[in-house]
Formats: sequence, structure tokens, C-alpha cells
Amino acid sequence: MKTYKDITGDGGSNIVEQVTAQQDRVRARMASVRHIVAVMSGKGGVGKSSVVVNLGSALALQDYSVGILDADINGSSIAKMTGVRGRPLETGETGVMPTAAARNLKVMSIDLFLQDDSMPVIWDAPTQKDAYTWRGMMETAAIREFLSDTEWGELDFLFIDLPPGTDKLPNMLDLLPEISGTIIVTIPSELSQFVVGKSIKVAKDLLRTPVIGLVENMSMHVCSQCGHEEKLFPGTTVEELAQQYGVPYLGKIPFDPNMAVCADEGSLYLEKHGDLPATNAIGQIAQRVEEFLNR
Ligand SMILES: Nc1ncnc2c1ncn2[C@@H]1O[C@H](COP(=O)(O)OP(=O)(O)O)[C@@H](O)[C@H]1O
Ligand SMILES: [Mg+2]
Repeated sequence: MKTYKDITGDGGSNIVEQVTAQQDRVRARMASVRHIVAVMSGKGGVGKSSVVVNLGSALALQDYSVGILDADINGSSIAKMTGVRGRPLETGETGVMPTAAARNLKVMSIDLFLQDDSMPVIWDAPTQKDAYTWRGMMETAAIREFLSDTEWGELDFLFIDLPPGTDKLPNMLDLLPEISGTIIVTIPSELSQFVVGKSIKVAKDLLRTPVIGLVENMSMHVCSQCGHEEKLFPGTTVEELAQQYGVPYLGKIPFDPNMAVCADEGSLYLEKHGDLPATNAIGQIAQRVEEFLNR
């Protein structure tokens, strides 16, 4: 049996040409996108996808044309959160059409290709032991395919919901022509801030991508009866963390059970709820993002 050590060159697969051709397709696709924004976090569960959906819908409501690419292949939640899960995908002339979640808001996710709710993404390999080696590469290949084969059309903003962790942004940057910046999401727990510091360092110092800023999610609870604010994680401040790392602080989003309900039922929080502390906070953060990018 031949092993990879016996293969000389690319083994006749033309892999370099194939990847180069796909990179050219990605570049051509992204030419109609004004700003690519990667959204990252240190830990999972801090509300990264919620921030993506809410910032995306805030900008879409202002008549910007917005796309969301769910790149968190194993924890994909954008399709469910925006209520488009299970909708049949349409193919266009040169690729697959993203699904419209609302006016000006388009979504693409691996979730749209899976048949039922409980189906996980499992990479095919002769044995699952082999899948371990391939997983990272296949994930990257899948995202590259999404980037090259989705017909976004003209977009003002393309938000990319990255998987949690520090190693995902470098992979992503290899695939993309140029990104306008990153948004980093954390909750104010000391643990989350400890981990998110590493993500900031990777984005800012290692990869030298513009950091649009840090979003503090689930910062406090505002009583719906009396407006009293109560911190959910007393004693720590994300604003200081932003200062310490020299990145902009974009603002804090309160915990609002309505937001969680909307995510679960697949309705857009900003469309459903008007003037609330969290909807206003999201509006302000969206404005700061817009200002940063239009600068
Ligand atoms: N500000 C918030 N208020 C209420 N619930 C929130 C808020 N942010 C996130 N959630 C909820 O917390 C859970 C995790 O959020 P999610 O966006 O999926 O996190 P991540 O993408 O970082 O894993 C979800 O159930 C979501 O609805
Ligand atoms: Mg998520």
C-alpha cells in the first residue's frame, strides 16, 4: 500500500492549481462586498452569534445590504436564530443563493444543507481516527467553498461568525482577500476576559488586522419594571480590558430574556422589540461599527 511518503509532488492532483483557482473565485466574489467583518470570541457561549445577528439586522434596518456567513461549522446557529432553517436553497447562475432572513439581510450556513435538526456535521473519512487529522482541513475547505460559491451580490457588510478560539482567524485570513476588521465579543466574567485577551493579541499583534472593537455582552440585567441595573458579573470591567490592550470599547449589551426567546424562535429581536435597553445598546454599537468602517 502506498503511503503519503511515497507520493512525489502533488501526486497528480493539481492541488495547487485547484486551490489557486478557488482563491481567484473567492477574490472575484468578494469584489462586490464593501466590508468584510470577522466576529470572534475567546470562549463559546458568550453571545457571539447573537451579536452578529443583531448588528447585522441593525445595519439592514438602516438600508445597508448585509450578509452573514456562519463559519462556526460545528456550532452553527445563525440559520436557526434568523428563522431560515429548513428553507430550500436555490442555485443561481454561478453558485448557490444565500437565504433572505429579512429585507437586506442574507444568510449562508452549513445548517441550510443538513436534513434534520439533530444532525451534526461529521467529516467523512475511512475511520473516525482519520477524521481527526482531516477535520481542520475539511472545515477550512468547506468555508472556502462557501466563500467562492455563494452568490452574495452587492453587499455593504459581510459578517463572518467565526468559531470560538484563537486559531480560527489565521485560517480565515488565508482564505480572504482583505478584511476590514474584527469585532471581539466577551462577557464580563474574569474567565472569559482571560481567554478573550488571547484573541485580541492574535488579531491585533500577530495578524495586524484592524480591531473594530470589543463588545461586552450580558453585562447587566435591567429591571423591566423599575429600570434598576444589576451587574451579572460584579467586580470586573471590560472597558479596562479594552484600554489595557489598546482596542476600542464598543459598548455593553444587557442581558434581556426577550433576546434569548427571539433567538430560540428564529425571529429578529430588533424587528420585534422597539425601545429597550438592549435594542438601544445594539443600535449604538452598530453606529460605532459603521463609523469605524466608513472612516
Ligand atoms: N444579551 C443577551 N441577552 C439574553 N440572552 C442572550 C444574550 N446574548 C446571548 N444570549 C443567549 O445566550 C446563548 C448563547 O448565545 P450565542 O449567541 O449562541 O453565543 P455564542 O455564539 O458565543 O456561542 C443563546 O441562547 C442566546 O440567545
Ligand atoms: Mg455561535
